[in-house]
Amino acid sequence: MMENNEEYRLPEHIAIILDGNGRWAASKGRPRSYGHIVGCDNLEKMCNVIGDRGIRYLTVYAFSTENWKRSQEEVRVLMDLFRRYLKRIMKTARRRNMRVRFLGDPAGLAPDIQESIRQLEESTKDYDSMFFQIALNYGSRDEIVRAVTKLADDARSGKLPEGRVTEEVFASYLDTADIPDPDLLIRTSGEQRLSNFLLWQLAYTEFYFTPVPWPAFGIKELEDAIAAYNGRDRRFGGV
Ligand code: IPE
Ligand code: IPE
Ligand code: MG
Repeated sequence: MMENNEEYRLPEHIAIILDGNGRWAASKGRPRSYGHIVGCDNLEKMCNVIGDRGIRYLTVYAFSTENWKRSQEEVRVLMDLFRRYLKRIMKTARRRNMRVRFLGDPAGLAPDIQESIRQLEESTKDYDSMFFQIALNYGSRDEIVRAVTKLADDARSGKLPEGRVTEEVFASYLDTADIPDPDLLIRTSGEQRLSNFLLWQLAYTEFYFTPVPWPAFGIKELEDAIAAYNGRDRRFGGV
């Protein structure tokens, strides 16, 4: 297997745009909500698979700032799923020594979800075998605007680190402060766009698009993505 080859590189950080729950369900003659339920179960499974595979950082896009435009019913279903998922994931975090963090603006979420987020982040903050980021009510433009607003406040009150803005200082104001940039971005279900995900952080990330919808994305599809990543000539602007 390629893995025995010394040059086989495992991405340290994989980011995934979990897409295609609705279309997957429709293809089975089921309602979109069924796709979200199976997609949510698959997230739990794949989080373990990815951790077992030795990948330390996993970031997933679960709900965008634009997703509020969906029907009230679909938003309600998704929020109820998140409620349950946030409770379930505590066990996984403890078992895997996995730190869980959220990207996005919690203020837009229901108070009980905000509280679950706060508790999960607080109780997992010392875990350091794996790092799991969930983007919930996340939009990259919103994140950048929130970062700039805070940075401007700090500049006015003289709290700016080093007194000037560098790339490192700016990045430290983003929701992803202290988290390395993704090496590999996977988007399932065929769309080839970012949909407002990690615009700053993906500057040098390799992109992998698969037609497979998220609920059907399993171990084989993950291995295919990692193999494709290995076939890439990874560069950061040099020769
Ligand atoms: C991804 O699946 C889940 C969320 C965006 C919350 P979709 O709900 O976008 O499913 P499709 O893309 O409509 O099939
Ligand atoms: C992106 O998927 C957001 C998430 C996966 C949470 P969407 O399905 O919402 O994106 P668009 O609408 O196809 O761009
Ligand atoms: Mg979609």
